[in-house]
Amino acid sequence: MAAARNVSDPAAMLTIRSFVPADRDALIALWRVCGLVRPTNDPARDIARKQRVRPDLLLVGTVGTEVVASAMVGYEGHRGWINYLAVAPAHRQRGFGRALLAEAERRLRAEGCPKINLQVRSDNAEALAFYRAVGYAIDPVVSLGRRLEHDDRPSGPASARSE
Ligand SMILES: CC(C)(COP(=O)(O)OP(=O)(O)OC[C@H]1O[C@@H](n2cnc3c(N)ncnc32)[C@H](O)[C@@H]1OP(=O)(O)O)[C@@H](O)C(=O)NCCC(=O)NCCS
Repeated sequence: MAAARNVSDPAAMLTIRSFVPADRDALIALWRVCGLVRPTNDPARDIARKQRVRPDLLLVGTVGTEVVASAMVGYEGHRGWINYLAVAPAHRQRGFGRALLAEAERRLRAEGCPKINLQVRSDNAEALAFYRAVGYAIDPVVSLGRRLEHDDRPSGPASARSE
């Protein structure tokens, strides 16, 4: 497990560390209350998948023993990615989201990552405003995807349909 790290003001109460299995239920509850869980993304499966690929880059932010924030970070050798950035509603607008991003960026820089990409649902105006405020710009690209596994269906080969 990565060492815990205290983040200085304005989010001095927040401790950021790597996920441990005991965080699982609290993390899923956080994602649910933050509106990040969709039928197509089973959160337990997403955590299990991340535990197989750079588990140290699944970050949780805690205040005391409470999991109040998260970021799922990845790097495939070309771009860094951030998913599941979340701050519990009661803890927003206190710099926690900015602190999580700063820690994600610190870890990606340490890997030699030259650029971060991330996806925001086009109707998520709050997240877009947040990312603008912390220095992220909209790239002139279209995001494409194709599902290889369907979390909302019984297991089996995925059809060619993307969603
Ligand atoms: C987006 C989210 C992580 C922001 O977390 P947060 O802890 O409230 O953000 P911070 O307090 O660190 O804010 C950093 C900056 O963003 C701005 N900001 C944050 N939320 C904002 C909002 N809803 N509207 C406008 N600006 C916002 C802050 O004012 C601050 O700007 P400043 O430093 O210039 O004053 C949080 O609102 C959240 O969890 N949302 C639901 C989940 C989600 O949509 N995640 C993104 C998935 S793509």
